[in-house]
Amino acid sequence: MSPGWIDASLFRDFQAEGTAAHRLCTMEDGWVERFGHDILISFKRVLVRERLIQELKEWADGIPFKFERIFARFVPRKSEQREPPRLICGNPTENLQTIATERRLKFGIDFGAGFSVGLFPDQRENRSFVRHIAPKRLLNCFAYTCSFSVSAGYVGATTLNIDLSKKSLARGRENFALNSLSTTGHRFINDDVMAVLPRLAGKGEKFDVIILDPPTFSRSPGGKTFHVEDDFEKLLVDSLELTERSSHVLVSTNCSTLGEHALEVMARYGLKAARRAGTLRRSPPLPDFPPGTGASSIWLTLR
Ligand SMILES: C[S@@+](CC[C@H](N)C(=O)[O-])C[C@H]1O[C@@H](n2cnc3c(N)ncnc32)[C@H](O)[C@@H]1O
Repeated sequence: MSPGWIDASLFRDFQAEGTAAHRLCTMEDGWVERFGHDILISFKRVLVRERLIQELKEWADGIPFKFERIFARFVPRKSEQREPPRLICGNPTENLQTIATERRLKFGIDFGAGFSVGLFPDQRENRSFVRHIAPKRLLNCFAYTCSFSVSAGYVGATTLNIDLSKKSLARGRENFALNSLSTTGHRFINDDVMAVLPRLAGKGEKFDVIILDPPTFSRSPGGKTFHVEDDFEKLLVDSLELTERSSHVLVSTNCSTLGEHALEVMARYGLKAARRAGTLRRSPPLPDFPPGTGASSIWLTLR
């Protein structure tokens, strides 16, 4: 058994806090996540997938933890080659959806909806920080399935969600419903973030929390591209127009070339360009993600 597996005491901590969406193992060229009763293996080499399946069974017996299905997805170098996870163990006639909890909030998981299943466990602490801040108005850029907005809505915020994917925003509405939260007072805009931000600024809209967690690369239906390494600074500067004193901005990415230090440098440039002052705070480490894995994030607090 390799040392990358979480131990029984951490597993029990997750159970106790009502979290069933987390990593189980991280090794070179592969990792294993739990979503409720289901397992997702991500692998870069077939041999690693086989080893993770074998070790998963040994690990689960030792905890003990009874899982239902195993899905596996190949992690290609190019995102265009991404495919949905495939069922490799479990009942093939069951639907591909399930529900996973994180600190007792519920999130819909869909193993058939594409490469990503609906919730990114490496944003857990950032979602909790949103709950801790208890914002009044949260702007969720690149909202995906609106997990940050559900966290904010749970503590009384109204939210504005922007995403190019209509389907993801529809799943976001479903996530509100799963937690018995009404979507009244929450807005969902199916458009390009880079086009929407100046429109919001023109209307004088302000937010006390802004989430910036863009993909590494994307292309809008109009053909406009977003490259995180080139465009993050402009994204940050445009979003700062929508903040007031003491607003918080999450600057986050899973682009492997942009670590926390690079994000800090970029954030300082962004502040200077926007003629604003602020303090930076790194997110606390996650116990199920070894250093250097998962998203890099910093929180910016405006002065
Ligand atoms: C990495 S996911 C965001 C994850 C999300 N922050 C979370 O934690 O759940 C990227 C999302 O950005 C959306 N997206 C990509 N480019 C976009 C753009 N230019 N404008 C709006 N949404 C975009 C995609 O449709 C996808 O849902």
